Amino acid sequence: MDVEAVLQEVLPRIRPTDEERAFVEGLMRELEGTAEETVESLGLDVRPYFVGSLAKNTYLAGDHDIDLFLAFPLDTPRDELREEGLRLGKTIAERLDSYEIAYAEHPYVRARYRGVSVDLVPCYDVESWRDVKTAVDRSILHNRWVLKNLEGRNDEVRLLKRFLKGINAYGSEIYVRGFSGYLAEILVIKYGSFLDVLKNADFMLRQKIIDPGNWLKQEYEVAMRTVRREAEADRPLIVIDPVDPRRNVAANLGWERYGVFYFKAHQFLENPSEAFFFPRGQKSGSYLSELRRKGTHLVTLVFGTPDLVEDILLPQLERSARGFEKVLSREGFKVLGWNVGHEGSKAFIMLEVDRRERERVMIKPGPEFFTERGRDFYLKNERVWLRGRRLYAEKRVKENIVDVILELLEKNQVAMGKNLRGAIRNAEILLDYVPNELEKEAYLFLSREKWNLKQQ
Ligand code: CTP
Ligand code: MG
Repeated sequence: MDVEAVLQEVLPRIRPTDEERAFVEGLMRELEGTAEETVESLGLDVRPYFVGSLAKNTYLAGDHDIDLFLAFPLDTPRDELREEGLRLGKTIAERLDSYEIAYAEHPYVRARYRGVSVDLVPCYDVESWRDVKTAVDRSILHNRWVLKNLEGRNDEVRLLKRFLKGINAYGSEIYVRGFSGYLAEILVIKYGSFLDVLKNADFMLRQKIIDPGNWLKQEYEVAMRTVRREAEADRPLIVIDPVDPRRNVAANLGWERYGVFYFKAHQFLENPSEAFFFPRGQKSGSYLSELRRKGTHLVTLVFGTPDLVEDILLPQLERSARGFEKVLSREGFKVLGWNVGHEGSKAFIMLEVDRRERERVMIKPGPEFFTERGRDFYLKNERVWLRGRRLYAEKRVKENIVDVILELLEKNQVAMGKNLRGAIRNAEILLDYVPNELEKEAYLFLSREKWNLKQQ
């Protein structure tokens, strides 16, 4: 199929229908009314703004979370914004179906109304970047900038977002480190279309700095500080936020997700297919055959998923896996790779290792023979010999990797995410075996299909 045909197949699946649009627009008008009434009844001076992809009309079909920002005057003290903002959010949400409090820099209300998630987020009513006081304040400016510059290329953004989702590179959350929706919008505005963004995948890398707001002309010092800071931090891409020269829109984009995009963009242009947008289920196979093929072994720690948000849980799982990698290699096991995640109520750390057993002895270097400590060493050990002036002895050690891990955990010698310590100490440790629900994951990990750049 040629590229155009593929895009024509994909578009109807990602563009919201007239019904969907009418439904969410109806909801928005209703919410706006509710918000305005509530603001008035509480005697506040607050302006409601819709932001996010809904307000910009760049949301994907079926994916229409509402972001309603409640903008307080700039002279509102921070703690007043915090309290009044939460009170206002709750009062609005009382009139919706249900709600809970969520936490960011300031607490906000996450409500549900007619099956749609509605975030009620207090912020400052900013006019320019110089007014920005909290992390969410820029969203109003983003919205304005995108609406002004997108010029009808909304579907191009949808294509890019869906492509990024399909290749698993969408989302600026810390555990994804991919492209944010706003970054996708900027790239489409900068390069003109979905295909042009793809064609520029490597050019972006060489150009490195994208400055759609022309900050390097208008605010040279501030913008240069951003560029230097982000270059120092080794970001793949620096996109100076057109609404704020102090910020790199791509600050959360990591090399890996960028790299996936780089490869997939080329592959798609060479050989376009719908599968990039809607990947067919990943290949599956037997993890046991993979172990036989490779001659390696799999250690899996399984434990109850601690009650933590994804942003905290995943980085801590990764940190713990790295902790095991380090300490096991010190103990004589080579770790070829690791994989973490959670599946339902179970969290797991998988470690691929070169062997399940090590030598029963380790050679223990001792002190110089003519010292006090040398004498102790000589007396304490059974088999002792000299190499040069230094004493050596044999030390019996646990040989099975599971026993080694248990001992390391007991002696608290593994660096771990701090909220996982308890759970991991009580983990089940499985060797060359995983429970049913992890079989597919184990296969994808051991075969590296999970990350294979060449798979379609
Ligand atoms: N935002 C941002 N940078 C991020 C994440 C969010 O600037 N890394 C701001 C943007 O102004 C964005 C808004 O927060 O428009 C809402 O964020 P989000 O829902 O993540 O993005 P959307 O643009 O709404 O895209 P999606 O369709 O994925 O919801
Ligand atoms: Mg959104």
